[in-house]
Amino acid sequence: MAAVDVDVYDNEMMRTLTLGGHVGFDSLPDQLVSRSVSQGFCFNILCVGETGIGKSTLMNTLFNTVFESEESSHYQSGVYLRPKTYELQESNVHLKLTIVDTVGFGDQVNKEESFKPIMDYIDTQFANFLEEELKIKRLLCNYHDTRIHACLYFISPTGHSLKSLDLVTMKKLDSKVNIIPIIAKADSISKCELQKLKIKIMSELVSNGVQIYQFPTDDEAVTEINSSMNSHLPFAVVGSREEVKIGNKLVRARQYPWGVVQVENETHCDFVKLREMLLRVNMEDLREQTHTRHYELYRRCKLEEMGFKDPDSDTQTFSLQETYVAKRREFVSELQQMEEDMRQMFVNKVKETEAELKDRERELQERFEQLKRMHQEEKRTLEEKRRELEEEMNSFNRRKMTAETLQALSIPNKKP
Ligand code: GTP
Ligand code: MG
Repeated sequence: MAAVDVDVYDNEMMRTLTLGGHVGFDSLPDQLVSRSVSQGFCFNILCVGETGIGKSTLMNTLFNTVFESEESSHYQSGVYLRPKTYELQESNVHLKLTIVDTVGFGDQVNKEESFKPIMDYIDTQFANFLEEELKIKRLLCNYHDTRIHACLYFISPTGHSLKSLDLVTMKKLDSKVNIIPIIAKADSISKCELQKLKIKIMSELVSNGVQIYQFPTDDEAVTEINSSMNSHLPFAVVGSREEVKIGNKLVRARQYPWGVVQVENETHCDFVKLREMLLRVNMEDLREQTHTRHYELYRRCKLEEMGFKDPDSDTQTFSLQETYVAKRREFVSELQQMEEDMRQMFVNKVKETEAELKDRERELQERFEQLKRMHQEEKRTLEEKRRELEEEMNSFNRRKMTAETLQALSIPNKKP
């Protein structure tokens, strides 16, 4: 009877009621904000770009501070990733910021494997999160989430378009991370060339099927700004540690003999656009996309690899126990098959060795017989030779005796 009641409720239309007065659950969003603020936030940026392209300078400029940074040499034998975590605070918001640097990127003669350490690093952060999620005692609210939320891909301003290293790396990473391509050191290229370069880069990304992060346009509050910013990609940025006095204001800029490039002047470069999009408008979306899109994909593939799968139909239920038993059975049968294969391999090897030994024995026997025959032949020849010699000796002795007898007979005849 109870089951029937549940069905009836399920099929009933939901009714909308009006409240007689203020109840108080309209404070839920505020509660959420307050909880999030007290917990603090994590944001992780991966900077991918050649040595000396301006990664550290841009990070310092973006967060208006000085992060630790060591200049990398151009002689690294491979690419490695260097994460550094900082606690930042703005108003009452605490941000645990991790900046991951790609050391040695683009410096090797053979750059074929350059994307691999980056891909592995991203996967390792996903694996750590999944491991925490699968624990019986999960501590996800205190967990330091190191998954990469944004990958700033630094493109060199020199050259006519993307290098193959850029295309390969972005293609390999696009299903794992939100890629925001930026043209670095944009002050070293003319306005007209920059425009051409931007168009070329975007068309190459499209023709190679590289999916870069698109600022979301589904939230009305940001639709306009985000769709206009999507058309400005890749942002052409300038970074600087210097401050220059313009009028009576100190601004971040790069000073040259012919003039000053102001970092925050939108007619000089897209730095403000990048900061607006990355930190002020879409930081939460970047975090969410990382969790719902990239991590979800990793998690699904990993769990399927581990043997978990969702039920095929609604009538089937998902059972962790059954999955475990099935996976164990599969593992045991794989192990047995491997054992059987190894046993078979061992038997074959023994048979092969036995056959080889028999061949060898037969060869030795034949050789022995041959030697024996040769030996007998030689012995027979020698025997014959001995006999011949004996005969020669006998005849010689006979001749000698005859000669001696004749000599003895002839001596008395000569005396008188
Ligand atoms: P590594 O960490 O050693 O790989 O270098 P990096 O990519 O962090 O570059 P870094 O920020 O150390 O800058 C390298 C050089 O480029 C420095 O001399 C900077 O002053 C200069 N630089 C940085 N940003 C810009 C820029 O926007 N324009 C120009 N023209 N030079 C820049
Ligand atoms: Mg650096």
